Amino acid sequence: MCGIVGYVGQQDTLAVLLGGLKRQEYRGYDSAGVAILTDGGMLETAKKAGKLQALVDLLQAQPLVPGHTGIGHTRWATHGGPTDVNAHPHLGDEGKLALIHNGIIENFAEIKVELLAKGYEFESETDTAVAAVLLGDVYREVGDLREAMRLVVNRLEGAFTLLAVHTDAPHLIVAARHNSPLVIGLGDGENFLGSDVAAFVEYTKRAAAVGQNQVVAITPNSVEVIGFDGTPVSIEEYEIAWDASASDKGGWSSFMAKEITENPDAVANTVRGRVVDGLVQVPELTELGDDVLNGINRIILVACGTASYAGMVGAYAIEQWARIPVEVQLSHEFRYRDPVITPETLVISISQSGETMDTLMAVKYAREQGARTISVCNTQGATIPRESDAVVYTHAGPEVAVASTKAFVAQITALYLIGLHIAHSKKTVDEKELRRLATDLQALPAKVTKVLETGEKIAQLAKWMSDTPSVLFLGRHVGYPIALEGALKLKELAYIHAEGFAAGELKHGPIALIDHGQPVFVIVPSPRGSALIHSKVVSNIQEIRARGARVIAIAEQGDAAVLPYADEVIQIPLADPMFEPILAVVPLQIFAMELADAKGLDVDQPRNLAKSVTVE
Ligand code: F6R
Repeated sequence: MCGIVGYVGQQDTLAVLLGGLKRQEYRGYDSAGVAILTDGGMLETAKKAGKLQALVDLLQAQPLVPGHTGIGHTRWATHGGPTDVNAHPHLGDEGKLALIHNGIIENFAEIKVELLAKGYEFESETDTAVAAVLLGDVYREVGDLREAMRLVVNRLEGAFTLLAVHTDAPHLIVAARHNSPLVIGLGDGENFLGSDVAAFVEYTKRAAAVGQNQVVAITPNSVEVIGFDGTPVSIEEYEIAWDASASDKGGWSSFMAKEITENPDAVANTVRGRVVDGLVQVPELTELGDDVLNGINRIILVACGTASYAGMVGAYAIEQWARIPVEVQLSHEFRYRDPVITPETLVISISQSGETMDTLMAVKYAREQGARTISVCNTQGATIPRESDAVVYTHAGPEVAVASTKAFVAQITALYLIGLHIAHSKKTVDEKELRRLATDLQALPAKVTKVLETGEKIAQLAKWMSDTPSVLFLGRHVGYPIALEGALKLKELAYIHAEGFAAGELKHGPIALIDHGQPVFVIVPSPRGSALIHSKVVSNIQEIRARGARVIAIAEQGDAAVLPYADEVIQIPLADPMFEPILAVVPLQIFAMELADAKGLDVDQPRNLAKSVTVE
């Protein structure tokens, strides 16, 4: 939700800013803008509604005077539509100051009234424009940009990352962070700021996260951080594990196509180092202490969207193996329902970005209520892991396509690891079975690679179905969250009405939707897991087929029972039934991508979405 980049140094600043915005465009793509301080002490700005390319075209037609300090922004509109005027940067102090912002300033209206009374005028309707004018106003009083920023942020409410430059200080960027992400990139004679490390990973692998309620001032040779109260804060440097090339398209038609093929690596890298002597051991959980884990009597998984479906799969697995009651709650519902939480409650948050505001707030709430918290996260140094007692990183690598694919399978993998670790610690599964499961988990990446081979068949299917107005998805047990995920992927990528149902729910209403030719994907559970559940799903297939549905079954190899009733069967390799979601979801990801592609849609940046939802 808005990508931010800042640069001070000797390189071509505009090129650094545009590169950083390109890599963060997935955070928002309604409009983009840059501000550059020229060596001659001028402030140059350009901004444009539309995707980043619209700004690039504008800059080609009307080049800016180069400089060595600059800030850039890619927007996902909150207050004020995606127009040129509302795009960032916004100006203050009679055009000498530029400000960009990620987040929402909740009390902007009252500040605006105050500023209007002082005679200021506003062209834009955004909350950011108010912050820019306020910063300019305070700067004129105090004459120091960092101090002005500190005073301003103490007046603002909501969530914000702010970056500002002023012509009076040509080699300085001042930034502030409250409930919204900000990372520093540390260079040699140059420094960077970004919403995430993608902004600058091309130039430096050294990063430092900015804590909550901190103000940062960077020049080419210095980084200073203070709290909102003015106390100096020392930074904690870390090395970025991602390679810059990992966030490039690398010859693929889309990031999504690339990321789907990276599913096997996402699983393998998440498991790597966490199976020791044939048994799952998650060192990050060991740090939490076995006594803590063994004392847990309830687990709540909190997440949003796709991550919540990963949580649903994880809930089946953890509950079955660890014999602890597990439930999944949407982060934004969780904290408003006054949940019963005790010190024996473990709250596991799941978030690819580690910045989803709803999930962050759920974690903070859980901690305030005395729960233990673990975060499952794909982004090093993100806010949610920093707010949690322990973090189990998924190692899916950077996920750039807005709709999640490889991070989803990595999240499920991490939850399997957590479940098996607790089961081992609590001795709820015997060691032989734990070893078998660990071995089966390690064998999954090769099986996912096999599933990718079904891609061409699925692409054909997607082409045939590109005119369909609606697709349904059915599943039971761990297949149910996969049905939900299949439907979500299709909705967000191909803008087609799609719904996922628990197959058992069919006769309680949804079967009325079935009409002649209605496409229905059915995730068929392995008969090796529960013959009963399998036979029930086969009956469900017969019921919908009898009413005219066109059935596409995703079933394990050798499952002959579905063949007579399915119009199409997509076969997946045999795995432990609990691990099937990782295999079954891949054809659904490919299907949604191919169908969107067949409709000529942008699969990486679907309309109205942003990758990292940093506002509630
Ligand atoms: C859908 C999708 C979203 C995210 C959700 C949570 O494809 O990507 O539903 O899963 O916004 O995001 P994170 O995992 O970053 O908290």
